[in-house]
Amino acid sequence: MTETLPNPLSKSKTLHVSDLTVRYGGVAALKGVGLTVGPGELVGLIGPNGAGKTTFIDAVCGFTKADGQVRLGDRDLTGSRAYVRARAGLGRTWQSADLYDDLTVRENLTVGAYRPDWRRTVREALRGRARHDDGVAHLLGIQDLLDRPSDGLSAGQRKLVDLARALAGRPDVLLLDEPAAGLDTDESGLLATRLRSVARSGTGVLLVDHDMSLVLGVCDRIVVLDFGSVIATGTPREIQTNDDVIAAYLGRAARSDVDPEEITHD
Ligand SMILES: Nc1ncnc2c1ncn2[C@@H]1O[C@H](COP(=O)(O)OP(=O)(O)O)[C@@H](O)[C@H]1O
Ligand SMILES: [Mg+2]
Repeated sequence: MTETLPNPLSKSKTLHVSDLTVRYGGVAALKGVGLTVGPGELVGLIGPNGAGKTTFIDAVCGFTKADGQVRLGDRDLTGSRAYVRARAGLGRTWQSADLYDDLTVRENLTVGAYRPDWRRTVREALRGRARHDDGVAHLLGIQDLLDRPSDGLSAGQRKLVDLARALAGRPDVLLLDEPAAGLDTDESGLLATRLRSVARSGTGVLLVDHDMSLVLGVCDRIVVLDFGSVIATGTPREIQTNDDVIAAYLGRAARSDVDPEEITHD
């Protein structure tokens, strides 16, 4: 299929995470986890509830204290505050996908385009000189929604706007926490198409989700976490047939859920 969407994002930095360890009290939520996300690469991070997926995103983006190293391109972000990491090029979405419901879609994107700074408020961002161009909205196919109030959107539209808001900050690498949660099959299929557009534009994507047809269908590589440790890394095909992954997460039923023919990469 020919992709005619504009391609406003041009990025070239690789995220390198090594030996990331997070302890909550006496509990180790992450134990020495490492992975890389290159430009234009879609990397899946999967695992059972409580495996440490959200903790990983929090630790990489500076929202929770961690041992280990985080580097973006040649910049060492280990120990940096969250807003410094965001300005350096790490974008994220949250499991809750909260939009600013009293703002329009365009205003939500304008806030997202504003370079994060702990001194700024949402109101200042809107008043200031930050302007998002409509390229991100076109890339995600939501240009017709720009003037709509955010509180009237469907679940699928909200997820795309949430994604667009994170992309409006022009991250080099975007970490997505369960973007397909609550979406139906059609909405999840549309999200998959849009995520491929994002990756093709050069942005690296780390995708956390339980929707296996989404993750197995779009990711170049998948990392599997269980009890805070990496138990497998591989292509979707390798992961789908890995006995440790099946035992810990996918289960036998999921093996027949996903038709291998549906696993495509373009
Ligand atoms: N703020 C916190 N305080 C204490 N324990 C936490 C906190 N956040 C997460 N945990 C624990 O860390 C582990 C990993 O949680 P989480 O990263 O949310 O898993 P996942 O996103 O894979 O479901 C779980 O055992 C969870 O209970
Ligand atoms: Mg989580």
